[in-house]
Amino acid sequence: MEKEKKILYSGMQATGTLTIGNYLGALKNWVDLCEEYECFYGVMDLHSLTVRQEPAQFRKTAKNLYALYVAAGLDPQKNCIYYQSHVPAHAQLCWILNCFTYMGELNRMTQFKDKAARHEDNVNAGLYTYPVLMAADILLYQADMVPVGADQKQHLEICRDIAQRFNNLYGEVFTIPEPYLGKAGAKIMSLQDPQKKMSKSDENVNATIYLLDDRDTIIRKCKRAVTDSDTVVRYGEDKPGISNLMDIYGSITGKTAKEIEAEFDGRGYGEFKMAVGETVADELTPLQKRYEDLLKDKEYLAQCIRENDAKAAHAAQKTLRKVQKKIGLTESL
Ligand code: TRP
Repeated sequence: MEKEKKILYSGMQATGTLTIGNYLGALKNWVDLCEEYECFYGVMDLHSLTVRQEPAQFRKTAKNLYALYVAAGLDPQKNCIYYQSHVPAHAQLCWILNCFTYMGELNRMTQFKDKAARHEDNVNAGLYTYPVLMAADILLYQADMVPVGADQKQHLEICRDIAQRFNNLYGEVFTIPEPYLGKAGAKIMSLQDPQKKMSKSDENVNATIYLLDDRDTIIRKCKRAVTDSDTVVRYGEDKPGISNLMDIYGSITGKTAKEIEAEFDGRGYGEFKMAVGETVADELTPLQKRYEDLLKDKEYLAQCIRENDAKAAHAAQKTLRKVQKKIGLTESL
């Protein structure tokens, strides 16, 4: 029987506080996919362990990420929103797939090379096999589509290679996932250095708008955003700061660059920055309110987590069992 809806899988690491870059580049678009696809969205807490976490803070961060998913509009009744670490099949399949992945392949991962260079004091084996755990995440749910940013493309490719290799040996066990090529989320850059991607971990707090920043903070950060010395609101490579603000403004209002240029024709940077700040604040206020309400309603959130963990575990177990059988692991009696 043909599946009714295609399956879509994605998730974010549970580290730091989400930024409007994460929101406009991913989360906001995920919300739009909920009707068309059967969606699984994970709080990727196992992946976060490749960097040392302070336990109490980590627990909070993971819970906040879950609440932010829901506050942003991912419906825990319609989608499966769950904690990766609550579904043991991830770690189990990861081990099996480790044995079908070559060190040569992992050595080529650019993110591993970058991260290893940046954290020389903690180049652990988890960092090395990070892409294999990610492959397990995706393959467990037989995902057809994975919406990922450019920085994760190589990880999706190795996932496809591993799945194909396994299928060649054992038959059609895994669905081969495709990158989701729908409307691309905007790539939001740092407000202080528009050549750099906006990052959760930027040392300059003015570089990043966090989803939980209050209205005044958001407006202040937009006003201080680094721009060129010209005064014309125009999109272009020579104007990275203004173009970035236009991307932010455009992805919230749905306006094109041309429309924004016309709207701010002759009005100068001050007015434009103020409008961007207010638009971002208006977009985030209802999300922040839902987030606060969710955190207060502990029983509701606990129930969502329980139900969704069970949904995810059920789907994952089915694939894991199939894999175990294929490779000849005996069933526990
Ligand atoms: N590596 C992804 C990131 O940092 C997070 C992630 C983990 C993921 N497992 C995934 C994304 C599976 C998509 C599918 O953004």
